[in-house]
Amino acid sequence: MIISISASILGLDWTDQPSIDQSVMRITNANFVHFDVEDGKFVKEKSFGADVVSGTNVSGTGLGKDVHLMIKNPEKEIDKYILAGANMISFHAEAAKTPKKIIDRIKAAGVRAGIAISPSTPLKEIEKLLCDVDFILIMTVKPGKPGQKLMKTTIKKVKELRKKRPTIDIEVDGGINADNAGELIDAGANILVSGSFIFNHPDPKVAIDLLRNA
Ligand code: DX5
Ligand code: ZN
Repeated sequence: MIISISASILGLDWTDQPSIDQSVMRITNANFVHFDVEDGKFVKEKSFGADVVSGTNVSGTGLGKDVHLMIKNPEKEIDKYILAGANMISFHAEAAKTPKKIIDRIKAAGVRAGIAISPSTPLKEIEKLLCDVDFILIMTVKPGKPGQKLMKTTIKKVKELRKKRPTIDIEVDGGINADNAGELIDAGANILVSGSFIFNHPDPKVAIDLLRNA
């Protein structure tokens, strides 16, 4: 499968929009900018909202906007992120009361719809939705902070899902670097999210190539 890289800006100073735009120019060989929206309720941490998604300039780069909603009641917020120019939106199974409705709403807007699960959530919780979504985001760390260590137990879930759905997009997120990316790709992941490894590297473009070719 073709491997895509989605670069997470959560660890950067996202209160400084010009510096985010500069950082985007350093990752133009990636496929997506990954926006981690945190509400201080679904997760303890609070990050940014739709204004950072719409305000980030990707024009002329070919990069898409990949929005990962770590928020309570995502049904209430979806439209804002569609309007903000998201190309992919995922929300957490643990937070959604009407997941099928949310998926339909995202898809009807011409945006790719994904469901995300935390490390402690088994695949069977989203079994019924596997035919409806465009992609599944398997969290490889507990949702919240950047710079955590990947939980190896989550790799089994990627394998299990790939066996069930040979062609669906499987996104993995959290603690991904050049040392563990190969194992995730072998397990069946094809969209790798990475923040710390990419932006802490002296040359983020080199880090992206290392992940893609791991
Ligand atoms: C964790 C976020 C991830 C994370 C990725 O809650 O969803 O996107 O910030 O960053 P690193 O690569 O630093 O784990
Ligand atoms: Zn994320």
